[in-house]
Amino acid sequence: MGKGKIKRIAINTGGGDAPGLNAVIRAVVLSALKRGWECYGIREGYQGIMFPERYPEGGVFRLTGPSVRGITHLGGTILGTTNRGNPMRFPIKNPDGTVKEIDRTDELMELFARHELDALIAVGGDGSLAIANVLHKKGLKVVGVPKTIDNDLEKTVITFGFDTAVSFATSCIDRLNSTAEAHQRVMVVEVMGRYAGWIALNAGIASASDVILIPEIPYDINKVIEKILDREKRGRFFSIVVVAEGARPVGGGYSVIEKEAGKAERLGGAGEQLAKLIQDGSGKETRCVVLGHLLRGGSPTMFDRLLSIRFGAAAVRALEEGQSGIMVALDPPTVNYVPLEQATKRMKTVPLDCDTILTARDLGISFGD
Ligand code: F6P
Repeated sequence: MGKGKIKRIAINTGGGDAPGLNAVIRAVVLSALKRGWECYGIREGYQGIMFPERYPEGGVFRLTGPSVRGITHLGGTILGTTNRGNPMRFPIKNPDGTVKEIDRTDELMELFARHELDALIAVGGDGSLAIANVLHKKGLKVVGVPKTIDNDLEKTVITFGFDTAVSFATSCIDRLNSTAEAHQRVMVVEVMGRYAGWIALNAGIASASDVILIPEIPYDINKVIEKILDREKRGRFFSIVVVAEGARPVGGGYSVIEKEAGKAERLGGAGEQLAKLIQDGSGKETRCVVLGHLLRGGSPTMFDRLLSIRFGAAAVRALEEGQSGIMVALDPPTVNYVPLEQATKRMKTVPLDCDTILTARDLGISFGD
């Protein structure tokens, strides 16, 4: 395995889905077929290869031209995905009900050998790419494709799924403007993004919102209220506040809904918490809208489709060139390759001195600081 000419490759999608996954899959399959390779899909991250009994139609199955026909514009992933059962930290229940985590990556390597798979194209976010890197270090040829609506991956200017999420959030906020104005209310809009504020920042500016709260800038509720009341004085009796799910008050923590073994913590509730503080502190009627998983659904924008297709084809070219342990990355105007090791080292958060933040400040948008 892993040596010599490539004949059979696998592709999987892991972590939260993002618009553009199907476009990547199609690009990988068509590019592989063009080279005379066979291409196999693994269902739901690594579950399909580890637990084939769960999949009557095959946990690892052949992908052909017809299997990827007409999917470029579809959200979701034809392979399925999961953010459970990380093979590096696989959760096992002890008899006393406690949970321990074990490393099953050696077993995974054996399964790849048994299926005679020469290489893997792993499409995922930080968690999935970290697993891919371990498999590469153990000898499998691996190329990663960065995916996440959060855009929090280092070493690529952008991930696919982000543009679709921001575009959708922007059009939702546009709609909220009229109802906010009609009722003279404050509308708080909570968006995803985990510990990075990229979605909130970009959608907030594009929709001309009044306050944007992101994890990178802990907020002071008094400053938020000050901004809303200042608008009031200027005859603007409504305000739009965009809050990232990872936003937190100065001195406060993240709003965590759930923490399960082997899974990333689930964020949520920052918007409701903030709406209450705003209503209590300003006396203005305030409503909260959580966009949540709506940002992950739907058809990818043209930008995300094109990026996904470029990423998928570049991943296959990388394997053909004999590369491994790398991730495809957008480094405009080209798609480049970067070591997986570097790509997963740290999260890409919003730099406080970036021009997007400066632009928002120039336009009078408050960050609650
Ligand atoms: O990483 C993508 C993302 O959508 C985050 O923005 C969000 O915090 C998380 O996934 C939600 O995960 P789940 O699908 O488990 O609710």
